[in-house]
Amino acid sequence: MHLTLRQIEVFNAVARLQNYTRAAEHLHMSQPAVSMQIKQLEEGVGLPLFEQVGKKIHLTDAGKLMYGYGRNIVSLLDEADEVFEAIKGVERGALSISVATTASHFATRLLAEFSKQHSGITISLDITNREALQRQLEHNEPDLVIMGQPPEGVEVDAAAFMENPLVMIAPASHPLVSQTAIPLSHFAQENFVVREHGSGTRSAIQRFFDEHNVPFNTAIEMTSNEAIKQAVEAGLGLGIVSIHTIELELETGRLKILDVEDLPVLRNWYVIQRKGKRLSPAAEAFKTFVLEQAERFIRLPGSSGKERGARR
Ligand code: PGA
Repeated sequence: MHLTLRQIEVFNAVARLQNYTRAAEHLHMSQPAVSMQIKQLEEGVGLPLFEQVGKKIHLTDAGKLMYGYGRNIVSLLDEADEVFEAIKGVERGALSISVATTASHFATRLLAEFSKQHSGITISLDITNREALQRQLEHNEPDLVIMGQPPEGVEVDAAAFMENPLVMIAPASHPLVSQTAIPLSHFAQENFVVREHGSGTRSAIQRFFDEHNVPFNTAIEMTSNEAIKQAVEAGLGLGIVSIHTIELELETGRLKILDVEDLPVLRNWYVIQRKGKRLSPAAEAFKTFVLEQAERFIRLPGSSGKERGARR
């Protein structure tokens, strides 16, 4: 059986519209050319595909079968086309990602690895706090956002991909370093070095202290986790930070995690997009990469001391 794709396309149009003239208009062909394609297809198949009843044409039984095959062939070709377009898009696309300040400690590593796998993609990365990310999502600006908790008041699709434990840190020389299971109430008089209002970490810690009815004394506010670590090291106060921000300091022993009851506060990292947003192939590829591979590239310091804490 010798059939051409053109014959199948013409046949599909005639079968769908049940009319040679309308099919010819739809295909921008003359009616005799349409009839010729159908005649050749019927010769190829060896059976009549249409029959004329009065003024109308109908599919024969063989025609109905052919229509089933015809639609499958065209839809498979469309699918192949979409797949190839997606590959082209992934390899040449642009990607705009916004991440929470705290997530920047690992997001750059993720992007570096992703960009090794897709060297043609142009990436732009914005690092800002939770409040600003929420505004960006409201305005549908970035393709994807990585943050510590889906925002309220904006409709989003959020997928958790990794744990984000918040731990209490102290300088290595602090007297509490050697103690275990310190009750949270012990810190009622303590001064903390904290992130600015609008930080997701800050609001999670505040909620945690409120729920335990322990006052949270915020001595000094800082917009960067790096500055908090230095301040804690210098003895300005204790800190509560994401474990992702202190990998190096734990390794070198410059900061220690205090063993406090009910800590770590267990949070998750989410990859988030505005609900209904149609992701570009590049953004879709990055999202899949984060969900499937992030944990391979991000080492979580294993010294939090506890498995369970309060989830925020
Ligand atoms: P942030 O990030 O504290 O840097 O704002 C954490 C979060 O999004 O909750």
